[in-house]
This record gives sequence, structure tokens and C-alpha cells, in this order.
Amino acid sequence: MSRPGQGGSQGRAVGREACSQGRPIGVALLGCGTVGREVLRLLTEQADELAARVGAPVRLLGVAVRRPRRHPDVPADLLTTDAAELVGRDGVDVVIEVIGGIEPARSLLLDALRGGRSVVTANKALLAECGPELYGAADAAGADLYFEAAVAGAIPLLRPLRESLAGDRITRVTGIVNGTTNFILSAMDSSGAGYAETLEEASRLGYAEADPTADVDGYDAAAKAAILASLAFHTRVTNADVYREGIAEVSAGDVIAARQLGRTVKLLAICERVTDGSGAESVSARVYPAMIPRSHPLASVGGAFNAVFVEADAAGALMFYGQGAGGAPTASAVLGDLVAVARNRVAGGYGPRESAYADLPIRPMEDTPTSYHISLEVADRPGVLAQVAQIFAEHEVSIMVVRQTGRSSDDVPAGANLVIVTHAAPDAALRSTVDKLAGLDVVRDVVSVMRVEGDVT
Ligand code: HSE
Repeated sequence: MSRPGQGGSQGRAVGREACSQGRPIGVALLGCGTVGREVLRLLTEQADELAARVGAPVRLLGVAVRRPRRHPDVPADLLTTDAAELVGRDGVDVVIEVIGGIEPARSLLLDALRGGRSVVTANKALLAECGPELYGAADAAGADLYFEAAVAGAIPLLRPLRESLAGDRITRVTGIVNGTTNFILSAMDSSGAGYAETLEEASRLGYAEADPTADVDGYDAAAKAAILASLAFHTRVTNADVYREGIAEVSAGDVIAARQLGRTVKLLAICERVTDGSGAESVSARVYPAMIPRSHPLASVGGAFNAVFVEADAAGALMFYGQGAGGAPTASAVLGDLVAVARNRVAGGYGPRESAYADLPIRPMEDTPTSYHISLEVADRPGVLAQVAQIFAEHEVSIMVVRQTGRSSDDVPAGANLVIVTHAAPDAALRSTVDKLAGLDVVRDVVSVMRVEGDVT
């Protein structure tokens, strides 16, 4: 590998040379895994282009890794195991962090920012956990903190939220932001197979990690929801504020029930501005599997792709779609941020900041309006529907759809399948309705309970 920012620029077009003659922008790269390797490749292959776009050469000064011997492709004199020394080294203007996790990434980035260095990071877990601390350090030092790669990989999403939509009022962000779970749910939808066997297939095909917990239990999507909600609503939202359910409980029966209603099941990250009866606003950030109409733009997002549906007062609905993971797609977002912060340094300033001026309260999940799909096996005799409806009425939950399918069998007394879809009600009221239904004599089984999203009023 030639040295990024040093090789291959001689003898090029004069105009391009002329605009890349500023003081070099020194870059430190922390981490050289799947994403880091692609960052290095793009820095090398596009050195001239990057210099022309930035207005100064972009020079890689070092790559911090844990085991240098595992990186024979990287010039040996760039490699170091001392990340802290690299971050503080003279000439480093921008620190790119693709290590992941909380420590040592947090301490290294705080040091970088406090030293006035710009930071580009793909670390969603760190931002969702310690975002306010990092934003504060960036503000205090007048340094850039860019993190486009932290949510939805290659998809340009955070800068549109932070910059392009800065003049609008965002009301809701609904995203498929985890490729692993979207692959699994899409496969369950097309094959009719159950969760466990589909997860196994996803692992065999390399779509799920050896330990898929962060993905299938919704932690990855929740971290991304915290970041999206912070930007969309100018409010500091962290991991702890995000309600989370994963997909491990989604059954083949749920997916079939969704299909029968003209819906499909997706793991959604939902960030919503909720206005209550008195006009007071709050932020709801939540992750759970939900049934959405097959006609919804997010329903056609298949495989491991990501997509985010943004609703704003003036812009209306916007859809962002693309590859949400992988070395090259994520590196594309990292490089975009590198060019942006390098341009800011050449211009002698910094870019638009994350802001938290609105400081809206976080709405607890219990008070958040949601709608449920409930499938029950019930006794099929007079008065059953009235008993079921009474429970909904007692909890002030309004029913939108009821569908009954009769069933007869020689072995069991006459039974029926009852599917109910509700209007929006506080989540706590819906949960309590389901608990009460489960206790009714006439209810033989609660077959499936899942939230519905996308068209309910
Ligand atoms: N593991 C994530 C996914 C990608 O499956 O989408 C990184 O956030």
C-alpha cells in the first residue's frame, strides 16, 4: 500500500495542484478493522481527489492498532500500538475513530477534542452513551465532531437532519437501521420460516455476527435511535431514554398474521415528537418489531438494507435508503466527514454544531400512544365478543378492526380466531388490556401481540 496523501500526486493537472497547496491536514486513524481498512484504501486511492476537494493535501500520520503484525498491508512506519500518543502527536488535525465500544475510544476522543483536533467517528454506542460529554468537549474546544457513519452506514442522513432540514420542524423519524434484523425478518416474511432457523441461516450466510445479541435484541438500533432523536428534536437523548424490544419473540405466526392484514413485520427505530392535549411536546424514542402496511415505503426495504423515513412539517415525507453496514459503505461516510472537517480547518472554522436548545422531556413508553394487533383463540359462543370488547372499553382503548375466523374441530369445543387492531392509546393501557384478556375464561390463548405502525390514526 502506498502512503495516503503522499504518493502519486506529482505531475498532475496544474489546477488540481494549485488548489491542494495549503498546509497538509494531518490525520490519525484509530482502528484498522473492516471499516478502517476501507478508510485506508480510499485515502490512498483518492489522495489527489481528496486534496483537490479539501484544498490541502490530506496526510495520514499514523494508524493505531492492537496487533501490528495483523496488518502487513499497512506501511510499518505508520503503525503504532500507542493510540494516546498518536492522538496527541504534532501535526494531527483530525482523528478518525473506528475502534468501536466505549473505552478506550471515549478517553481518546475527549483528549483529541480538548486538544482542538477534529473528530470523525463511526461509534454509535459511544455517541448514544456519552454523546453529551463529547458534544460538550467539541463545543468548548471549537472543534468538529462528525459521525455520519454511526447511523445507517453509507446513507447520508445525519447531515440532512442537522443541516438540510435545519429550517424545518421534524415530527417523526422512522427507520430500519439494523441490517441483520431486517435480513432475518425479510427472510421470515418470504419463506414463512420461524425465527430460530432464519437466524441460523443468517449466521451461515454471514449476515449475522457470531454473537448477534446487539442486533437481534435491538441494542444497535436503540443506539442509533438515540442519535437520530437528538439531532431531529434538538434534545439530548441517550441510550437510557430509548425503549427497546428485539425480534427474538417474533414468530412465524406473527408474520403470517401480518400478511393476512396486508402488512409485514419490521424492526423499527421510531423517534417522534409527541404533543399532548395541552399542547406540551415531548420526545418518544423507541425500538420494537411492528407490523407496517405493505404499501408503506419501508415495507419494500428487504435484505440487509437500511432505510429511514423522515416526516417534517414543510418538507413532508422523505425517504433515505441504502447500505447500512459493511466496510466500504461505512468508509464512504467516514471519508465524507473527513472531507467536511478538513474543509472547515482549511477555511479556519468549524461546521454546524449539534444543538440541544429545545431540551424536550422524554416521554415514558407507558404514556406513548401506540396501536396493537392482538390475535386471540376464543370460545365461539354468544357473548364472547361482548366480553372481549368490554375489556377494551374499560381501558379506554378504541378498536379499529375486528376480524373473526370460525373454527370447528371434533376434539375441542367450538372455537374461533379473533384478530383485533386498535386505534392509538397509551402503551400501558394496551398492555393492561392484553393482560386482562389473557385472564378471561373465554380466551383460550393469546396467539400474537404486536404493535402496528404506519397508517393508524
Ligand atoms: N450490525 C449492524 C447491522 C451494522 O446489522 O446493521 C452496524 O451498526
